[in-house]
Amino acid sequence: PSQRQSLKQRAAELLKAKGAVLVAHYYVDGDLQDLAQETGGIVSDSLEMARFGRDHAARTLVVAGVRFMGESAKILSPEKRVLMPDLDATCSLDLGCPADDFAAFCDAHPDRTVVVYANTSAAVKARADWMVTSSCALEIVADLKARGEKILWAPDRHLGRYIQEQTGADMLMWNGACIVHDEFKGLELELLRERHPDAMILVHPESPAAVVAQADVVGSTSALIKAVVEGKAREYIVATDKGILHAMRQLAPGKVLIEAPTAGDSATCKSCAHCPWMAMNGLQGIVDCLERGTGEIFVEEPIRAQALSCIDRMLDFTA
Ligand code: 13P
Ligand code: SF4
Repeated sequence: PSQRQSLKQRAAELLKAKGAVLVAHYYVDGDLQDLAQETGGIVSDSLEMARFGRDHAARTLVVAGVRFMGESAKILSPEKRVLMPDLDATCSLDLGCPADDFAAFCDAHPDRTVVVYANTSAAVKARADWMVTSSCALEIVADLKARGEKILWAPDRHLGRYIQEQTGADMLMWNGACIVHDEFKGLELELLRERHPDAMILVHPESPAAVVAQADVVGSTSALIKAVVEGKAREYIVATDKGILHAMRQLAPGKVLIEAPTAGDSATCKSCAHCPWMAMNGLQGIVDCLERGTGEIFVEEPIRAQALSCIDRMLDFTA
């Protein structure tokens, strides 16, 4: 067997021996997604990762994704051991929203309900009334608006603007962005569409307005996968991290998948449709964390208890 296959085999044996389950995001390496599926774990969007980790009986969760996903798992299940293949796997949204600055922003606007995206630190969640992911943000904000609440939103400005447009809610926004989705280009997408006039356009809402405006479907990673599986079209232009193509190819083998254009080869392209932090997750990291207990996530009390209520509120709302 190749070195990759033996590492995968070793990781599968360790998961079993340690009574651990692998919870993976759609953007991580295909080998990790396969390993999660083959060993009774899950590959999913960030909402389902949180729910699955909370509800699974395993005492150890291995979270393949970025740090906020491991932290959410630990916040929900403090009694479980939560391990990550690489603790340096962060997110530009999390980095761009330091807890102290965010607390000052909240303090300046005490009349607003604080809604934060999942892609934030535990300390930021501890200041929030609600946590949302891209799969439920629209419904939750629409509900808050219907109850007459004014919103303070952080940190993704593109997702915030999309929700604001869709719901008409009064939203004061933090100015953050995902370095991966921020690179998708509206004009280049228009040109690509001319060459594929029958293609369905699938867009993650962390993308810029000019890209979202051209979408047939705007949604979370799992919503975009569902759109490919259920869509009648033959071709799909996909504006999200290319890690998602692995699951799309497996679940919809006959469909033609085309990557949406980014700044491409230009020097400004930092990420080129693949998250550098998701890419830190590898089979070796899974083996190492299970063998040596590296990459364990800890969230201090009382931050954990404070952050829990905003995650629980979202999970109850979406149950
Ligand atoms: P989803 O919740 O849609 O899986 O998105 C998570 C993420 O990090 C997108 O960049
Ligand atoms: Fe964060 Fe973007 Fe990476 Fe998702 S793809 S983890 S939002 S930097």
